[in-house]
Amino acid sequence: MIDERAIDEALRQVEQLRAEALQAISAAENTSRLEEARIRFTGKKSVLTAVMQIMPRLRSNDERKTLGAAVNAAKVEIETALEDRRLQLGRRELEARLEAERVDVTLPGTPVQRGYQHPTLQTMRELIDIFRQMGYAVVEGPEVEWDLYNFQLLNFPPDHPARDLQDTFYVTDDMLLRTQTSPAQIRVMREQRPPIRVIVPGLVYRDEAEDATHLSEFFQIEGLAVDTNITLADLKGTLTEVVQRFFGRERGVRFRPHYFPFTEPSAEIDISCFACGGAGCRSCGGEGWLELGGAGMVHPIVLENGGVDPEVYSGFAFGLGPDRFTMMRGNITDLRLLRHGDVRFLEQFN
Ligand code: PHE
Repeated sequence: MIDERAIDEALRQVEQLRAEALQAISAAENTSRLEEARIRFTGKKSVLTAVMQIMPRLRSNDERKTLGAAVNAAKVEIETALEDRRLQLGRRELEARLEAERVDVTLPGTPVQRGYQHPTLQTMRELIDIFRQMGYAVVEGPEVEWDLYNFQLLNFPPDHPARDLQDTFYVTDDMLLRTQTSPAQIRVMREQRPPIRVIVPGLVYRDEAEDATHLSEFFQIEGLAVDTNITLADLKGTLTEVVQRFFGRERGVRFRPHYFPFTEPSAEIDISCFACGGAGCRSCGGEGWLELGGAGMVHPIVLENGGVDPEVYSGFAFGLGPDRFTMMRGNITDLRLLRHGDVRFLEQFN
C-alpha cells in the first residue's frame, strides 16, 4: 500500500490548499463569507485536515513528520490571515453601519401635539375654583341613583307632576340615571353636620327632545350651604358673585320666581343673552335672558330628610348648568355642538 510519491502529492495538496485559502480569505468581502472560508480550510472537518488521511500511506516517520509540520504551518498561516481579515472586515462593517445609521441630533424633533380640555370642562374647573375660594368643598354623588334620593327624599312624592319635568332613564323601577345633582344634598346632610358648604359637579340625564338649549346628558354643579341664619340674601349674594366673577362685573343676573319641590322659595337664575344682548334670538329662545340654573332655600322637609333640624338650621341650594355657562361665554348658538366632538369646533376654545 505504501506509495512512493504519496508524500510529494500530499505536500503539493497542502501547498495548493494554503494558496487557495489565502486567496479565499483576501477575497472574502464580508464576515459571513470569511466564516465560510474558515469552516472550509481549518477545523476538524476541513479540507486541510483531510490531507492527514494520507498518513498511513507514507513510508517513514520522517515523511509523516514532514507532512504534519507542513499542515500545521499552513494552518497557522491561514489562521493568522483569517484573524487579520476578520479584524479588517469588522472595522469596515462597523464604519459602514455608523455611516448608514447616522443621526443628526441637531435636527428639530417631531412636535408632539398637546391636548386641551373640553370647553365645558374648562368652565367646570373655573367654577370649582371660584367656589373653593369661597370656602366650598367638592364632593361627588353617583350617576346611577335611587328614585328615593333623586325624587322622594327631595319632596317629590310618587306620581307628583313635577316628576314629568324630569323624566329620565330607569335602570329598575326604583333605580334611575339621576336627573339632577340634588340627591347629593341628602347624601351630604346624612354624612356631615352643619355648617355645610359643598358643591357637587357631575353629569345628569333626562329623557329630553334635544334642541339648541337642551341636552339629554348635561353637567350640573349642585351647591348646598346649611348653617344657622342662612337667608335668601346669602343665596343671591353668593350666586351673583359667582356669575359675575365668571362672566365679568358688567353682567346682569336675574332671579325669577320658580317652583321646585325641594326649595321654598325657589328661583331660576338668568343672565342676559350674549348672542343678542337681550333682544331675543335663537340662542335664548327669544327670551333675551338665558337660564343658568335653579336655586332656592332648602325646604324644611328636605332638611329633615337629611337629618338636620329645620328649627335650628336653614340653608340654600342651587344647581348650575356649566354647559350653558360655556355656551354663553363662548357665544355658542347651539349646545349640541359641545357634544359632537368635532375638533374643528372644539379647537377654537383651546
Ligand atoms: N335640581 C334642579 C334642577 O335640576 C336645580 C336646583 C338645584 C334647584 C338646587 C334648586 C336647588 O332643575
